[in-house]
Amino acid sequence: MIIYKAKNYSDMSRKAANIISAQIIMKPNCVLGLATGSSPMGTYQQLIDWYKKDDLDFAKVTTINLDEYKGLAPNNTQSYRYFMDTNLFNRINIDKNRTFVPDGLESDSEKACNDYDRIISCSGGIDLQLLGLGHNGHIGFNEPGTAFEKGTHCVDLTETTITANKRFFSSEKEVPRQAYTMGIKSIMQARKILVIVSGEDKAPILKEVLQGPITPSVPASILQLHNDVTIVADEAALSLV
Ligand code: F6R
Repeated sequence: MIIYKAKNYSDMSRKAANIISAQIIMKPNCVLGLATGSSPMGTYQQLIDWYKKDDLDFAKVTTINLDEYKGLAPNNTQSYRYFMDTNLFNRINIDKNRTFVPDGLESDSEKACNDYDRIISCSGGIDLQLLGLGHNGHIGFNEPGTAFEKGTHCVDLTETTITANKRFFSSEKEVPRQAYTMGIKSIMQARKILVIVSGEDKAPILKEVLQGPITPSVPASILQLHNDVTIVADEAALSLV
């Protein structure tokens, strides 16, 4: 595991974007696993800036997102598809047909998850998976207690996650209670994993992830067993490590 200490959020974002752009330059038709949330926004902005300067070409890149709320349509402003379109895809030269997010409108969970697992395997596997870290140690929507062996599945979101995500909705009542998420097994099958973590509020969980026991109670602790993980975290997030 390689750990890069960044000065702050923007330094973290630039370092993470450098790693992603190196991946795209080395393999223009690579498959990127992507995340939503506050952590990757600066990284995506940096990638957009480099694309605008002609330094990056997304024409052959495929992307596979980690998760989507069950029940939200792609054009719902709180859906993860909408987040990805507005924060990245609409602003670079990616072929939208090669951008994948679980289908929030598929009410048959088994079908939605099997379809998504097929998309991942047909893509040839993820070259670089970008991850944010939840305050409870979740990755994707794999909440504490999730079996490490799972592929894409439907989850009931925990109260911690609902509370953390309510800032994006007009009220807590509107936060969906279920989501489709790539499983830990799918995440661990990525060839490389890049985790970005920022802020003092993430310091206690980052310490557990890096130095604590490997346990389903801290889903991200499994990353200790992956052979190519890079953590880019700012000083505040690394303050307890
Ligand atoms: C998002 C995702 C989540 C977030 C995590 C951290 O697609 O899968 O696991 O990465 O909740 O969220 P932020 O970055 O908002 O702190």
